[in-house]
Amino acid sequence: CGGEDAGSGGSGSGGGKITLGFSQVGAESGWRTANTKSIQESAATAGIDLKFSDAQGKQENQIKALRSFIAQRVDVIAFSPVVESGWDTVLKEAKDADIPVILTDRAVDSQDTSLYKSFIGSDFVLEGKKAGEWLVKEYEGKTDTVNIVELQGTPGAAPANDRKAGFADVIKADPKFKVIASQTGQFTRTDGKEVMEAFLKTYPDIDVLYAHNDDMGLGAIEAIEAAGKKPGTDIKIITVDAVKDGMTALAGGKINYIVECSPLLGPQLMDLAKKVKAGEQVPQRVLTEETTFTQEQAKAALPDRKY
Ligand code: AHR
Repeated sequence: CGGEDAGSGGSGSGGGKITLGFSQVGAESGWRTANTKSIQESAATAGIDLKFSDAQGKQENQIKALRSFIAQRVDVIAFSPVVESGWDTVLKEAKDADIPVILTDRAVDSQDTSLYKSFIGSDFVLEGKKAGEWLVKEYEGKTDTVNIVELQGTPGAAPANDRKAGFADVIKADPKFKVIASQTGQFTRTDGKEVMEAFLKTYPDIDVLYAHNDDMGLGAIEAIEAAGKKPGTDIKIITVDAVKDGMTALAGGKINYIVECSPLLGPQLMDLAKKVKAGEQVPQRVLTEETTFTQEQAKAALPDRKY
């Protein structure tokens, strides 16, 4: 796997500095890039020695990185799990080695919650619900069928599972909403574009696109424009994240609504790492605060958007 240090032997904390081993998902989206920057910058600010490893979207790389952190005897391990399942064995190894683990951004489905100290990140089900609620309002009082296509995130990833479930849960109350196609776009612009091209060929009358992140939505916009349609008008678009490129498209009328998912988890993660290292009690769940943006709200927020 890429990234620094994960493969090399090490000595754990030296000179009183906390050593934090962090395994990142990859660099699939603008959100991820902002998240990595937040973690790297806040580690430097907090005086934490960060061993950063990029899993390039592969669970096997993450498991290798976690094992390497255990072998190096880092003080704390944190990671953003590529997928939800399959972590029990390696988490047990960390626990047996007495190395506390913090989950960031994404959850695992392990039943034994003693395998990690805390989980910091968003409520992805709620994000999906917010997307659905906007849609219900937008089509209030109308009776025609609303044909929806969905671009899902990485299969098996918590944000893909939960954003799909939350959205479905809200729109199911009204049978006029029909999800006519739902496929993964891997959280990337390239795949978002490709899958949307295929959707457009198969379904001539798409009313709405719900993309699980901005990047897939931005890729889809290219496909929609190439097909001679107007994104935001001919096809309404809802996305999740609110990174700068997404917000720019929203302010420009090409996206209709964005549900925010904050990538700025670094400062709180460093705080948690210091506390678990000091043996202090930390909350099992730390929820990220986030909002939603309409086109008007995006125009107002854009000048100050940092990522
Ligand atoms: O886990 C968070 C999700 O992962 C973001 O919403 C998406 O853009 C990223 O790839």
